[in-house]
Amino acid sequence: MGLFRIKHNKFEQKFNFDQFDTAHSDEWKDDDRIHEQGWDERYTYESNLIINLIDENPHIKNVLELGSGPGVLSQKILKKYPDLNYHLIDKPFAEQYFRENNFKGKFFVKDLSNSFNTEGLLDKYDLVITNDFLEHVFNPSIIVQTIYKLTNKNSIYFISNPNWRMAHQWVYRGLFDFDNFIYFLYTHKFKLEGFYPSELKVADIEQVKDIYPKIDSETLLPEENLNDWNHYMVFKQRM
Ligand SMILES: C[S@@+](CC[C@H](N)C(=O)[O-])C[C@H]1O[C@@H](n2cnc3c(N)ncnc32)[C@H](O)[C@@H]1O
Repeated sequence: MGLFRIKHNKFEQKFNFDQFDTAHSDEWKDDDRIHEQGWDERYTYESNLIINLIDENPHIKNVLELGSGPGVLSQKILKKYPDLNYHLIDKPFAEQYFRENNFKGKFFVKDLSNSFNTEGLLDKYDLVITNDFLEHVFNPSIIVQTIYKLTNKNSIYFISNPNWRMAHQWVYRGLFDFDNFIYFLYTHKFKLEGFYPSELKVADIEQVKDIYPKIDSETLLPEENLNDWNHYMVFKQRM
């Protein structure tokens, strides 16, 4: 039997490997994304979801956000809840923006691509946030395992993932399909409490040409949420 060969340049065209930002240290350098109105509206929507969670869980005092970028989301949350002890982790240029803008909270520069060194962090957090972050790293498992250690039974883990229809880059295509992701978190001892819809829809994005129907790994996703830009999920430890 002959080996079916696929031309390498076909992969290159389809997957654009150069785009994997997790391997670049200059992310957020001279980046104007956060000044665009669309981003601000997105962060406002997301911060309101998290504020809502804090309203419902007044025990939340210590917050950890991984892959926070420069910290715009955190500032919106801290505006409503200024007494939170808010820790953020991202790369050097994100920290520079955070520092130069006198943002509130404590920023840690760490490379989370393949490992999660918890030096300097608290033993436990009441709320952990990974907002569009896990899909960027090479070892999401070690991140989620470490988050388990950094949380307790009452802690809340808020995760946002882009809908695969957004055609973003991510290292593990398929892992972030709605059902697969819930399963992945379940194998890491976290249980889904629920999810929030996204205000923006896939069709709102100019680059998106096709609106794809439901696939087999989305049985838990209601039809009306199929074209949500992001899936905003709330997890808690299950054991
Ligand atoms: C899509 S952005 C999301 C940023 C922010 N949470 C938001 O919602 O706008 C992904 C974030 O993950 C961070 N990131 C990617 N790889 C990383 C790594 N190896 N270590 C630390 N942060 C990383 C990036 O710098 C970036 O801020």
